[in-house]
Amino acid sequence: MKAIRVRKEKVEEVRKLAEKIGAKDKRRFIKPVGEFVEIPILDGYERFFEGYEIIWQSSPVENPRKELSELLKDRIPKELHRSIPNSYKIIGDLAIVKIGKEIEKYAHDIANAILISNPRIRSVWRDLGKEGMIRKPRLELLAGEGSETIHVENGCLFKLDITKVMFSLGNHHERHRVAKEVDEEIVVDMFAGIGYFSVPIAKRAEKVYAIEINPEAYGYLLENIKLNHLDNIIPILGDSMLLTPEGIADRVIMGHIFCHEFLEIAIKALDRRGIIHYHESTPLKVLERPLMRVQKASRIMGKNCKILNFHKVKNYSPGVVHVVVDALVY
Ligand SMILES: C[S@@+](CC[C@H](N)C(=O)[O-])C[C@H]1O[C@@H](n2cnc3c(N)ncnc32)[C@H](O)[C@@H]1O
Repeated sequence: MKAIRVRKEKVEEVRKLAEKIGAKDKRRFIKPVGEFVEIPILDGYERFFEGYEIIWQSSPVENPRKELSELLKDRIPKELHRSIPNSYKIIGDLAIVKIGKEIEKYAHDIANAILISNPRIRSVWRDLGKEGMIRKPRLELLAGEGSETIHVENGCLFKLDITKVMFSLGNHHERHRVAKEVDEEIVVDMFAGIGYFSVPIAKRAEKVYAIEINPEAYGYLLENIKLNHLDNIIPILGDSMLLTPEGIADRVIMGHIFCHEFLEIAIKALDRRGIIHYHESTPLKVLERPLMRVQKASRIMGKNCKILNFHKVKNYSPGVVHVVVDALVY
């Protein structure tokens, strides 16, 4: 699936041209990626965009609404058409869709329409949330078969079973951003999962200690180390509260949104000074809370702390955001 990659200031010009000549692929949304924007185009139209960068979109943002409502218009009563999902997640070749209570009677029809409208999809699952500290997904199979897949992101391969471990597409930019910052360092990833951060980081780091408590996620972490031909990740199965190595890291990744109790352990992992990437899900009313928590933990550990960066990763729920704090602790 091809797209034209342009700088943000060029988007309008190129979008208008693509629409005028019928080149724009309406099944995919225009997708911002950092400083750039990807404008999806139909195969065969590349030649009209000489001088522009044409890319292969590895994780496109599908625009299913038009096709889905078209496919479902005779099956679902008109008053419910507004509740037909206008997006769904694609992980590898599997789709995960949120379906509101008011339309759940038609969940299987919606799933079948997704399968028909997107031949790449092998099965469709209903998203029912996540459970506990290991963030185990609650999913219900609606159509098709299979729950194990390989997802490609930023040139890395992630094998996983979507019913056993989560994969947050919304953290994609954050994973890419942090991996780019790493340079021949020792990194500790305290909540490694299947290697979301560890795998891209290992491509640039000297060594990554990847700690994961859930044996199922750990199993995939081992597979993903092999799949990506990495030999500098040290996988550790168990609780990072107990197993985080001390005094060795240039950088610590705390990629769990409920992990403030682990801040002092993260600081202990640093080799005197280093950077901590601390994630938290915080209500907008107490947006400063993650900053205060990092500063407090540094004080308790007798360290100074300089905030390098503080930004939103994504919306978590109404009034609650997932944020990350980058702090230099010394
Ligand atoms: C939700 S995932 C991280 C998602 C990731 N940051 C991303 O970019 O999508 C968090 C992982 O931390 C693991 N975990 C939770 N508590 C842990 C602990 N005490 N020690 C080690 N791993 C833990 C969970 O099993 C899960 O695989």
